[in-house]
Amino acid sequence: MAERISEEKINDIRQSVDIVDVVSDYVQLKKQGRNYFGLCPFHGENTPSFSVSPDKQIYHCFGCGAGGNAFSFLMELEGYSFVEAALKLAEKANIDLEIEATSIAKEKSVSKDLQQMMEAHDLLRKFYHHLLVNTKDGQHALEYLLDRGFTMESIQKFQIGYALNSWDFVCKFLTKRKFDPNYMEKAGLIIKREHDGAFFDRFRNRIIFPIFDRNGKTIAFSGRSLGEEQPKYLNSPETPIFNKSKILYNFHLARPSIRKHQQAVLFEGFADVIAADRAGVENGLATMGTSLTEEHVAVLRRNVESVTICYDSDSAGIDAAYRAATMLTEAGSHVRIALLPDGLDPDDYIKQSGGEKFQNDVIGASQTFMSFKIFYHRRGKNLQNEGDRLLYIEEILKEISRLEKAVERDHYLRQLANEFSLSLEALKQQQKQVYYQEKRNNQGQQANSGRKQLFIPQQNDKLKPAYFTAERRLIAHMLRDSEVAYKVQVLLQGNSFNIDEHQAIMTYLLGFYEKGEASDSSAFLNFLQDDKLKRIVADIGMMSINDEISEQELNDYIKQVLNYQKLLKIKEKEAERKEAESQKDYSRAAAIAMEIIQLQKLL
Ligand code: GTP
Ligand code: MN
Repeated sequence: MAERISEEKINDIRQSVDIVDVVSDYVQLKKQGRNYFGLCPFHGENTPSFSVSPDKQIYHCFGCGAGGNAFSFLMELEGYSFVEAALKLAEKANIDLEIEATSIAKEKSVSKDLQQMMEAHDLLRKFYHHLLVNTKDGQHALEYLLDRGFTMESIQKFQIGYALNSWDFVCKFLTKRKFDPNYMEKAGLIIKREHDGAFFDRFRNRIIFPIFDRNGKTIAFSGRSLGEEQPKYLNSPETPIFNKSKILYNFHLARPSIRKHQQAVLFEGFADVIAADRAGVENGLATMGTSLTEEHVAVLRRNVESVTICYDSDSAGIDAAYRAATMLTEAGSHVRIALLPDGLDPDDYIKQSGGEKFQNDVIGASQTFMSFKIFYHRRGKNLQNEGDRLLYIEEILKEISRLEKAVERDHYLRQLANEFSLSLEALKQQQKQVYYQEKRNNQGQQANSGRKQLFIPQQNDKLKPAYFTAERRLIAHMLRDSEVAYKVQVLLQGNSFNIDEHQAIMTYLLGFYEKGEASDSSAFLNFLQDDKLKRIVADIGMMSINDEISEQELNDYIKQVLNYQKLLKIKEKEAERKEAESQKDYSRAAAIAMEIIQLQKLL
């Protein structure tokens, strides 16, 4: 990325802007000690956990884990590319980028194709819309929509259009305006016929829903057939400007409402988003016909605290809701589920019962994930039947074991005890067993997967094991001083950090220093490409550490890192020894005990 504007210029920009100024355009900051604090713009909160360090020129949120430098701040908040963020910052710092004639020319040629693609989409969106609302050719399509309950207002707001029943209308339209057909094919607007290389239109006789990116630029289309013709929805293919696994339909229009309510509603289809909007639910989003991806989850997580899932109430929709809710919960979102009566989708429901009922009885009556799980596990079971009933209780106990709060666990245990007239004590006991069983299973899985633990940003460091903190402290010192970085590399004797992300950061940091760069957290953040790693670096950068690290401290940390793997091995052996004992195989148990002693000596 950085080669589009020279690295030198990027450094000029970085050194000339003050992150406090940049952030202050969006967040009210208050000085406290060396740092500034404010309410995090990336998630909803009432007490400030967002901090900015003028010394290091980085920011970090202790609540949601967002973090980076001035560039990443604009990229995350405004959805800018790196180059766009750089241009914006240069403007702010009054840095003239004119002299960069060659690199700018290069930059222009790179993005010219993309620009052409977006321009073509923009023109076509307007034209498709015009065909739908103003022409005789589009009249039947307009009637179809109005008949389905779409209003002129939503047709306008969502810029819905109509593609003519023609093989070459768009081809001609674009060539007349000097668009290169090869790029238009890459943009997914036209298709090249295999046998003679002639081009023809992708969308024919379909209602056209434009897909916008978060800045409101048209980047793709989805065309719905008017009748039974298959496929029902035809989407633009993946293109350089359209990535299905990232895009959420309606994000650009919903954003203000999402901010205001600190909540988004997730639907399965965009017909649902549009119907909900008509019903006054303006914070609706939908995936592009794919199931929710980790990338979608990350976008949601960055922009909103709570997500209400309102999927179709058929069996596929309920399964998809369970899956989406699990992913979002794991990412730290607050999730609620809005259920519709049998077999309906939101669009059908609103048509049948009206917007007010939808707001009150569906969205307003959404339930917690746990109560949805109770419903979920009941489906298809006959609880009069003993086998089904026991299976159900087991599944619910598993779900209860995953609840963080003791009061919540207690609540659902009581509910379960009441429903099936079971003794609460017995149920509690069984739940503990389930809990330890699950925990063992998870540990087993982790041991098999190379012993690396997942990094979970929401968790408090105080609850982290010693090696975790040791690795972070080491990185903090390595960020401050390249000498320490090289020293740590030597002391680790070819071993890696236990946390994958820490290891990756170390590798990048050494690469950064190898290039002859001086230690500078903000510069290193520009060097890093991965968002997750950036956030962790910003988090570590905010740690308060002594300016110098003593040999003693350094060795202690290294020891904690290296000991962890040995400790795991010992634990495994302990379990084996117990197993041998319980099988009365005392000689094997004694042999294992010897091994354990040997291992302990190595600590
Ligand atoms: P209507 O039938 O027009 O009311 O749409 P819907 O939103 O009720 O459609 P459905 O629930 O069947 O599908 C939900 C989403 O899946 C749609 O918004 C599309 O994004 C996607 N989808 C549905 N059918 C197709 C298809 O045939 N092809 C593709 N690519 N996507 C589809
Ligand atoms: Mn529908």
